[in-house]
Amino acid sequence: MTTTPSGHLVNTIGQDEVAAKKVVVLVSGGGSNFAALLAAHGEPSYGARIVAVITDNPHAGALTIADEEKIPSVIVDPKDFATRAEWNVALAEAVRVFQPDLVVSAGFMRILGKNFLDSFAGKTINTHPALLPSFPGAHGVRDALAYGVKITGCTLHVVDEGTDTGPIIAQAVVAVEPADTEETLHERIKEKERELIVTWVSKLARYGFTVEGRTVALKNNV
Ligand code: GRF
Repeated sequence: MTTTPSGHLVNTIGQDEVAAKKVVVLVSGGGSNFAALLAAHGEPSYGARIVAVITDNPHAGALTIADEEKIPSVIVDPKDFATRAEWNVALAEAVRVFQPDLVVSAGFMRILGKNFLDSFAGKTINTHPALLPSFPGAHGVRDALAYGVKITGCTLHVVDEGTDTGPIIAQAVVAVEPADTEETLHERIKEKERELIVTWVSKLARYGFTVEGRTVALKNNV
């Protein structure tokens, strides 16, 4: 706000001066989704800024990417905790330090339990490499292939206490080819996952969103 000579208050905040929403990314492995977000978040119009990456895996490739890009990283290794509940509390504390507006689980291979969601329910999203509600769990690509589906894909959803059961934000379809292996199919799905996550993290950050029952909607009727 500023004051004109006549004493009127004028809102001087331009679109590109609005602070980007803070995003913490949770990763367990290579981090190609994390890398895609990092490639996008520098643009002021993107609306979201990656403030930290947190992993359960001290050997996650994402840690190297974080170092190269000078993004703070934290390891919260379940081996250092007596119970899953204690690990969830520690993970929540690690995330809370960065005061995120959004938490993005991108290839994070652990279930986020009550002790985490007590703090971050409604602002935590996850990408899954299958068309939910089909093929939830750690082997979505393998299970879809074994079932013989002709199309599969990926799902971005809000995290609840179930395994890949939360309200769906967006999905993309990938055709299964006759010669596909789990690896070749997963690579094509990951291409779609990166597009989806980059597009939707920006939308969720710029517009905000509501979750009512199973419906996720961007605010302002966008
Ligand atoms: C993604 O397919 C994600 O859905 C699954 O693990 C993969 C992670 O890939 N849970 P990356 O670590 O982002 O490259």
